[in-house]
Amino acid sequence: MRPLLLAVLLLLGLGLVQAKAQEAPPLPHVYWSFEGPFGTFDRAAAQRGYQVYKQVCSACHSMTQMHFRDLAGIGFDDPEIAAIAASVMVNGKPGKPADAFPSPFPSAEVAKATFNGAVPPDMSLMANAFEGGPSFIYAILNGFRNPPSGVIVPPGRYYNLYFPGNFIAMPPPLHDGLVQYADGTPASVEQMAHDVATFLYFVANPHMEERKRIGVRVVLFLVFLTGLTYALKRKVWSDVEH
Ligand code: HEC
Repeated sequence: MRPLLLAVLLLLGLGLVQAKAQEAPPLPHVYWSFEGPFGTFDRAAAQRGYQVYKQVCSACHSMTQMHFRDLAGIGFDDPEIAAIAASVMVNGKPGKPADAFPSPFPSAEVAKATFNGAVPPDMSLMANAFEGGPSFIYAILNGFRNPPSGVIVPPGRYYNLYFPGNFIAMPPPLHDGLVQYADGTPASVEQMAHDVATFLYFVANPHMEERKRIGVRVVLFLVFLTGLTYALKRKVWSDVEH
């Protein structure tokens, strides 16, 4: 009886280990300035993230719901926004602040043909679209590895720890020193991934700071109202004998 029980337990254990090995590893724990009820966008990080988007991601990913003037939300002023817009060609002309960001591919079909059937997803809502949000984006950008021995990566695909199924059609987009940051921050892959994920969280949640400010005011008002109600109750009942 004993050996049989042991064998069953062992098999169950092996089964669990097997199931575990196929799951994607848990996302790395990353600190974000915008977490929590008082969190705000780290302006410098978001501006560096815009630089990474512009110099790297925008070659393949569109961001159709974002306009140049929206960059005011991360601290760019009007002349800076005008200069940024003018540095990008929109329909063959230098862009204006009111223009939407142009798309790199004329259509999804062209993108599909370029990437063996995969389409680089639009970045407007990317930071909200995945479980883990910005931490998932960060993980994907840091998750490129050599495949484990015995694993054959199909042509046009790359091995990534965090992509479902591990074979992603995106070539590793970042390498150390790829961009030169204006503020002198060393551009490691981790740094660029963190900055661009911060920027993309802003893109997907441009009104987050305003929303949180209103939330805090509402809570303060409710506290005030509770106090007032209590004082009123005491006053109204003060003449009544207990
Ligand atoms: C050379 C083209 C190219 C560049 C440059 C590029 N991507 Fe991608 N990206 C793709 C393609 C193609 C896919 C779709 C992958 C798939 O479905 O297998 C993709 C997918 C992704 C995904 C995963 C989405 C999902 O479905 O899980 C993320 C996140 C992402 N890209 C972020 C970025 C960021 C951030 C940058 C800039 C640092 C960037 N990409 C630069 C082509 C690119």
